[in-house]
Order: sequence, then structure tokens, then C-alpha cells
Amino acid sequence: MTALLTTRGLSRRFGGLRAVDDVEFALETGEIRAVIGPNGAGKTTFVSLVCGRYAPDAGTITFSGEDITAMPAHMRVRRGIAYTFQITSVFANLSAYDNVALPVQRTLTDGRSRGAVRHGAMEALERVGLSNRANEQAGTLAYGHQRLLEVAMGLALKPRLLILDEPTQGLSDGEIENFVALVREIAKDATVLLIEHNMQVVMELAQRITVFNAGKILAEGAPAEIRGNAAVQDAYLGTTPEAQA
Ligand SMILES: Nc1ncnc2c1ncn2[C@@H]1O[C@H](COP(=O)(O)OP(=O)(O)O)[C@@H](O)[C@H]1O
Ligand SMILES: [Mg+2]
Repeated sequence: MTALLTTRGLSRRFGGLRAVDDVEFALETGEIRAVIGPNGAGKTTFVSLVCGRYAPDAGTITFSGEDITAMPAHMRVRRGIAYTFQITSVFANLSAYDNVALPVQRTLTDGRSRGAVRHGAMEALERVGLSNRANEQAGTLAYGHQRLLEVAMGLALKPRLLILDEPTQGLSDGEIENFVALVREIAKDATVLLIEHNMQVVMELAQRITVFNAGKILAEGAPAEIRGNAAVQDAYLGTTPEAQA
């Protein structure tokens, strides 16, 4: 197996706080990796460093063999890194279709063929089950549908690595079930890095789990190993997801 993403000594402070502290991380091509850990553990900061939203204070990030540590975020998107935010970030005044057409346009280098944009946008909407809502204004969609629209915006970039930051937050049980199936589908042709509080979702989807605590990787392993890890239970699993949110 080859690592798609590697970080070495990756660090980021906010004032005196070490939000991400000397993190050594490797993600294999094709895997579904879950990242868990208590609130404030540094999960969002870590993926923000990977996608280029924040610059690190120290360390390196390698993607598909290339050092991307200093690469601007939009170039990382070109390389195939897509990130959906923890906070809903759809454009409320645009239609669902237009929200997805924008990232599709970013992937098209040769002109702006309307047919290609339409095809790419409708394909992404279909994959998340929203093609019948293409013309609805995004801000009027149900919350769960807005989260799915965000995933479609990520998919529209045809990512090699899709980073999802707490995608199931606020979804109903039925929506979560559909989401699990969607991630399995996405993982057929992309690597998935999933920050997730819902342990049932984590256990169902992840081949490996990385546990963050206080800016560091506390543990990493298969779901069964992580479940049986006493330090992880102390730091995280002993409390309910509700208490973490
Ligand atoms: N932009 C920022 N400015 C200052 N502090 C931040 C910023 N982003 C995150 N932090 C702090 O860094 C720590 C890690 O936050 P975060 O990465 O959001 O954790 P998680 O996603 O695991 O809940 C927290 O203590 C948080 O308050
Ligand atoms: Mg977070």
C-alpha cells in the first residue's frame, strides 16, 4: 500500500495553545479513516492544515508523493483534496444546482462547456440523492439536505481525498443510514477522512480510527482495538457523544 497523505511533525499553535502538536499521520490510498476525539482535541485544525485553510508553524504535509506544505488551498483542490466544513457552508441564496455547478467549474480546465458543467453537477447531486431538488434554493432545504449538498459540492471536485468534518451532525437516524451508504459508495473511488462523533457511524465505516486528544494522536488502530483501548475510553469513549457536542 502507498500512503496518499503523510504529515511529519505537523504543528499549529493559537497563541500559547498547541492545537495540533507534532502530529505524525499517514493515510493509505482507498481507505476510510475516522478521526475521533473530544471537542477541542485539534481535529478540525488538523484537517484545516491538510486542506490549506491554515498554515502550519512546523512540520510537513505530503500528498501523493508531493510536498504540499506551502501550497495554496486552491492548488490543493486541483491536486484532489476536497474538504467539507463543520459548519454548513452552502450558498443559501443559490439553487442546489448552482451550489454544485460552482465547484464543477473549478475542475474544468478546457473552457466552460455548459454541457460538461451540467453533467458534472447533476451527477454529484444524484450521488447524494438530491437531483430532484436541483432547482430549490439551498437555504430552504432541510438541514440534513443542506449537509448532503455540501457533500455533493465536495464530490463535484472529483476528489482523490474527501475530508468530511462531522457530516452527520444534526441528521436524523434515517438520514444517517443513507449517509453511511453514501460514504461506502464514495470510497469506491476516493480516500475518505471522516471526523465523526457518532461512534456507530465510525465503527460501521472506518477501517482504521485515529484518536486525537489535546493536539496529539492518542491512539490509532482498527475499530476493535480502539474500542478496547483504556486510554481512549478515559479520554473519549466514556462520555456520550451528546456530552461531546
Ligand atoms: N482560529 C482559531 N483561533 C484560536 N483558537 C482556535 C482556532 N481554531 C481552533 N482553536 C482552538 O484550538 C483547539 C482545537 O480546536 P479544533 O481543531 O476546532 O478542535 P476539534 O475540531 O477537535 O473540536 C481548541 O482549543 C480551539 O479553541
Ligand atoms: Mg471540529
